[in-house]
Amino acid sequence: MIKNFFNFNLKNVKPSATLTMSGIAAKMRAEGLSVINLSVGEPDYDTPDAIKNAAHQAIDSGKTKYTDVRGIKPLREAICAKFLRENDISYKPEQIIVSSGAKQTLSIALASTINDGDEVILPAPYWVSYMDMIFLVGGKPVVVNCHASNNFKLTPKLLQEAITPKTKWVIINSPSNPTGEIYSEAELYALGQVVIQNPHIMVMSDDIYEHMLYDNQKFYTMAQVVPELKDRILTVNGVSKSYSMTGWRLGYGAGPVDLIDAMTIVQTHTTSHPSSISQYAVVDALNGAQDFLPGFKSLMQKKRDLFFDLISKIPFLKCKKPAGAFYMWIDCSKIIESSNGKIKNDSDFCMYLLEKSLVIGTHGSAFGAENYIRFSYAVQESDIVEACKRIEKACFELVA
Ligand SMILES: Cc1ncc(COP(=O)(O)O)c(C=O)c1O
Repeated sequence: MIKNFFNFNLKNVKPSATLTMSGIAAKMRAEGLSVINLSVGEPDYDTPDAIKNAAHQAIDSGKTKYTDVRGIKPLREAICAKFLRENDISYKPEQIIVSSGAKQTLSIALASTINDGDEVILPAPYWVSYMDMIFLVGGKPVVVNCHASNNFKLTPKLLQEAITPKTKWVIINSPSNPTGEIYSEAELYALGQVVIQNPHIMVMSDDIYEHMLYDNQKFYTMAQVVPELKDRILTVNGVSKSYSMTGWRLGYGAGPVDLIDAMTIVQTHTTSHPSSISQYAVVDALNGAQDFLPGFKSLMQKKRDLFFDLISKIPFLKCKKPAGAFYMWIDCSKIIESSNGKIKNDSDFCMYLLEKSLVIGTHGSAFGAENYIRFSYAVQESDIVEACKRIEKACFELVA
């Protein structure tokens, strides 16, 4: 009844599958059940003390008022310094916008550029929110299925085939959520050549997992690898994952001034700007010592290795050791096949694990790939061990 009255403008838009699963976990925990939530997208360790102290200082010194819509100048300068130091890209502060999380940066970029029916190329598997963000602003997602044989990565051929006169953006996310795969320098260069050949398209490079890259691999981003495309790239990053600051809500984008100006207009009329306290804390995060980052990374690598070793021993599940991010992307087609019709798809398998073993994952179809399940390993090691034990038991019971 209320729905008819409002005529909600939410055609095709669904709630975030990962946040929905986390909500289920919280509810079950409140009921006293020993749930292990492997659907979360955040590190389990705390924000470093120095960053917290900078926030206290901002509060105590009255830095508690409205700020510049695109973010305080010292923060935009710190972001420019970060790009130069870590990615060898030179930006000016007017090419930067700071938002309430990378999620907001991505959505205001779409909101300020997409006209009805404009197309956005989305390599699948993709992070759940991209699809709905595109729908929300009247755009058309053009999903490109990327093959497991190419580690789920977009190729120049697939990109070229997906481009039409209506294409506005292509989204590249490396390291990827959900697969953990990363694009090499050569792969980004080859994709960049296709973008050069198609002057009407822009690249949204989502680098949020930049620091979650294992086994000494090197991170590359498109604006660094193909500098001549810099004015057609929005490079998006933030502190949620790398600095364990998910709740502080701070992300940023760097790109051509015209685009940043347009995004600023959308931000003015929505959130104005991110919290002043978070902004001052992140100045410290980016300008201060970065010595905790290797420690965070090796902690996560240890969790990845443990999870991978344990999950690989379960005969019905198949996965490749992820190179980055903190997700295990698991092919569950064999367990579905072997279940004698008891479960029909990845969504059923996810619900089965939830009910049978109180382990929460996210079904692959939410990321645009059927017969997969995604688990986050950014949890305590004891939870990884217990979860894998429970998953193994549940799998054997299913095929019995
Ligand atoms: C690929 C990807 N991009 C962006 C975000 C959003 O990050 P933030 O917390 O900065 O909004 C996430 C969070 O899960 C993500 O996985």
